[in-house]
Amino acid sequence: MALLEVKNLKKIYTTRFGGNQVQALKNVNFSVEKGEYIAIMGESGSGKTTLLNILASLDKPTSGTVLLSGKNLTTIKEKDISAFRRDNLGFVFQDFNLLDTFSLEDNIFLPLVLSGKTYSEMNDRIRPLAKKLGIEDILKKYPYEVSGGQKQRCAVARALITKPQIVLADEPTGALDSRSTDELLKLFSDIHEDGQTILMVTHSTRAASCASRVLFIKDGEVFHQIYRGDMTDQKMYQKISDTLTVLATGGEPHE
Ligand SMILES: Nc1ncnc2c1ncn2[C@@H]1O[C@H](COP(=O)(O)OP(=O)(O)O)[C@@H](O)[C@H]1O
Ligand SMILES: [Mg+2]
Repeated sequence: MALLEVKNLKKIYTTRFGGNQVQALKNVNFSVEKGEYIAIMGESGSGKTTLLNILASLDKPTSGTVLLSGKNLTTIKEKDISAFRRDNLGFVFQDFNLLDTFSLEDNIFLPLVLSGKTYSEMNDRIRPLAKKLGIEDILKKYPYEVSGGQKQRCAVARALITKPQIVLADEPTGALDSRSTDELLKLFSDIHEDGQTILMVTHSTRAASCASRVLFIKDGEVFHQIYRGDMTDQKMYQKISDTLTVLATGGEPHE
């Protein structure tokens, strides 16, 4: 069984007064095996955020199913959703979403506090993680005291501390300079190598070229996929660029 199965996913937004309908997702189908590192690309308006919001159980599809380890996300009861999200999913956002009145350590602890873990258990979990992410020395600092790259590494720590089944990332490098981008991508590759499943929406060809598979969304459907196989990052980069050109000019991708 795949870790994540997305079947016949459709999303139609209806404006408040019922007048206009926008079909954001037409028919999306794909599955993700445990341990994969997936990048999702597509032009603005192609449905990426809509898809990610549904996978994050922040929004419901109009029809279709999303199974995570066989559990149907689209039918979880409203009262169980936040606990489900906290226990199974990790999130990394472009704008970090750290709370400024909390130290970095407390930001990272937050999901564990919410699920009622003891302080000693939280401590046991943060030590190896902070070491791996190179943030041991700044844990007592506040978000406004550290760089964008350091904030993003804390956001990654917060995403990982619950040991989620899958990490969902929306433009995780979007607010980073090129050096911090490289550091974050290295980090994602490292946690992927450790077995973490990652699904990342990105505009960046450079970021996508680090993934093990790239899905291209167009007009609310999966238009094309690139599997890394034994390709190098450079070869992936070239293939992705070629596909984006084809997408932008409206042709069919060739193998
Ligand atoms: N809340 C909403 N209400 C109405 N239309 C929306 C809403 N959110 C997104 N859309 C529309 O759905 C389509 C897909 O949007 P989105 O998922 O944000 O695409 P992307 O993230 O790829 O740019 C677009 O046409 C967008 O205008
Ligand atoms: Mg978007």
